[in-house]
Amino acid sequence: MAPNFRAANLDKDGSLLNDLDNKIFTRDFDIPSMSVQEEVEYLKDCQTFIYFEDNNPVGFYCYSQDNDGLVILKGVGVIPGHQNKGVGRKLMDNFLSRIEGKKSSLVVHPKNSGAIILYLKCGYKINGWKENYYGDDQPRLLLERPGTLKPVRTPRSERPRQLSNSQSETPHRKILKTTNPHHKTVGLSGTGVK
Ligand SMILES: CC(C)(COP(=O)(O)OP(=O)(O)OC[C@H]1O[C@@H](n2cnc3c(N)ncnc32)[C@H](O)[C@@H]1OP(=O)(O)O)[C@@H](O)C(=O)NCCC(=O)NCCS
Repeated sequence: MAPNFRAANLDKDGSLLNDLDNKIFTRDFDIPSMSVQEEVEYLKDCQTFIYFEDNNPVGFYCYSQDNDGLVILKGVGVIPGHQNKGVGRKLMDNFLSRIEGKKSSLVVHPKNSGAIILYLKCGYKINGWKENYYGDDQPRLLLERPGTLKPVRTPRSERPRQLSNSQSETPHRKILKTTNPHHKTVGLSGTGVK
């Protein structure tokens, strides 16, 4: 992981995170500012990472995980003077590498076009709309990113014993070899497959 990311410690970083939050979420559709205490309460079930440039905090992201292993991205933000310079992408790349291919979801205000574009570029897809998500006049788009985990391979020593060629010649394979018209048209015999 890049050294300019640091895991937040809510006992020490509550006011730093609250300060970032108050600088970042200032638009009319953002949830109004929280107190430090409310911020810590909101983040207490989250993993939060702060991003620094020249030792100054310029962004953060936070996420939680439900019982089914779904990762919920709760927030990502970059302070205004540092936006549109690739920091948001760095935050997302760091987040995605940390969750190691698990399925993830998030909600975003439909007017938040910059964030929506970033999420779409990071592999999220829009899969819903919820009116009044937090209360009146608080609609949210629901976005999801499929998990990219590969199936776990069974170690060779634990796999069932392989049959020899003659033993594994099942009737199914014989039928495929002799009656599949596709095999005839592509001329499998010419590729060495008999
Ligand atoms: C959304 C946010 C995190 C993006 O961070 P950023 O540092 O400005 O984004 P980047 O410069 O890394 O851009 C990332 C990608 O998104 C695209 N993008 C970001 N904002 C965009 C905009 N307003 N219009 C078009 N594209 C945009 C960029 O083209 C870029 O694409 P690329 O990686 O292919 O070059 C930042 O704008 C922000 O903090 N906004 C306020 C808080 C917020 O809304 N957070 C999300 C909701 S929780």
